[in-house]
Formats: sequence, C-alpha cells, structure tokens
Amino acid sequence: MKRPKTSRAWWLDRHVHDPYVKLAQKEGYRSRAAYKLLWLDEKDHLLKQGMTVVDLGAAPGGWCQVAIKKVGERGRVIGIDLLPVQAIPGVTLFEADFTSDEGLALVEEALEGRKIDLVLSDMAPNLSGVKDADQAKHYGLAELALDFAVQWLKPDGAFVVKVFQGAGFEEFVRQARQAFRQVHVRKPEASRDESRENFLVGKGLKV
Ligand SMILES: C[S@@+](CC[C@H](N)C(=O)[O-])C[C@H]1O[C@@H](n2cnc3c(N)ncnc32)[C@H](O)[C@@H]1O
Repeated sequence: MKRPKTSRAWWLDRHVHDPYVKLAQKEGYRSRAAYKLLWLDEKDHLLKQGMTVVDLGAAPGGWCQVAIKKVGERGRVIGIDLLPVQAIPGVTLFEADFTSDEGLALVEEALEGRKIDLVLSDMAPNLSGVKDADQAKHYGLAELALDFAVQWLKPDGAFVVKVFQGAGFEEFVRQARQAFRQVHVRKPEASRDESRENFLVGKGLKV
C-alpha cells in the first residue's frame, strides 16, 4: 500500500519537481522568487541601468541578484533581511529587522541622501498558522514598506510589494492608490496557483 506523504515529504517532492527551482539552479539564482521579479520587470519595466534599488526581505538574495544585474555598476542595490544573505558582488546587505529603528537607520544611512528609484518588498512574516493573525502581520509589514516607499522614492519611482488576497487586501490597495498614480495587482507565472500571493506594483508618486 502506498504510504501517505507527510507534509514535509510533500513539500520536498514539490520542491524537487518545481520547474522554477530547476531553472534557478541552472541559471545560478538563489531562489525561484527571482523569476517573479523577472516577470514583473518584463511587464512593468521596473529596472534600468544606474538605478538605486532597496530590497526589503532580501534573503536568500534572488531579487538582489536580478536587480544588480539590471542596474549595473553605476546603480546601487541595498538589501535587508532578518536572516543573513551571502554576499552578492555590488550589493550592500544588512542582517537586521526592517521594522526596528536600527534596521531602518542602516538602510537610510546606506542611501547617503540619495532618493530611490525602486522599492521592493517580498517580506513575509513567520507564519503562526492562525490565518487572521498571519494576514494582519503581513499587512503590518506591507504598510511599513509603503510608508518607506512614499518617504524615499523619487517622484517617478516605483514600488513592488507582496500582497495576499483576503482580509486587509482591499484596504491596502486603497492606500496604495492614494500614494501612486498607477497601481496594478499582478500574479507572476512563478507564483504558485494555489497561493493567494500577488504583487502590487505602484508607479508614479502622487506628490
Ligand atoms: C519570501 S522571502 C524573500 C525572498 C527574496 N525576495 C528572494 O528573492 O530571495 C521573505 C523574507 O522576508 C524576511 N523578513 C520578514 N520579516 C522581516 C523584517 N521585519 N525585516 C527584514 N526581513 C524580514 C524573511 O526573513 C524572509 O527571508
């Protein structure tokens, strides 16, 4: 008789057979998440040579790898995560909590007074399994990222943030529409169908 899979075995099985995991391994990206940003960039033309980019929730570093390739040597990429991120040439990385004063100060100091072209946030809280509490924690992070973007973006800058359908989603989109002239909610191909994950893209600050 076939043994039922434990959730760990199911996860491993899915991971091993995931085409984006295989592609990431082949192309040298640290995470399958890299393909979400590549897809968003193709759609919304977010990343250009010379840009200053801040990546919130950067570990293990897939988005930073994509960003530094696109902005090149004249550009600047700053990443922050609670977890350590192995060095990526050309990227400034901080192991700190973005929600703390210390974490925010590290990023702001690294900017050296420069305004930002693109704020990325793929931050996701540790899940407790209590759906409403996890959703509330997620939108706490997303709102901090939005506040940071509004304060630091250039007038024609852009913002990308992970959002989940459900409680808090409509309200967050409303807040983003107050801040940006254009707001889109996108589902990259690499984002799993069964996940409620989407990405909100905001462009053009309403100043
Ligand atoms: C989905 S992963 C990011 C994947 C990343 N975009 C990539 O391409 O490799 C989400 C990350 O958010 C980070 N995170 C969650 N809360 C955070 C916080 N308060 N400050 C900094 N990072 C945080 C987690 O540690 C986790 O590494």
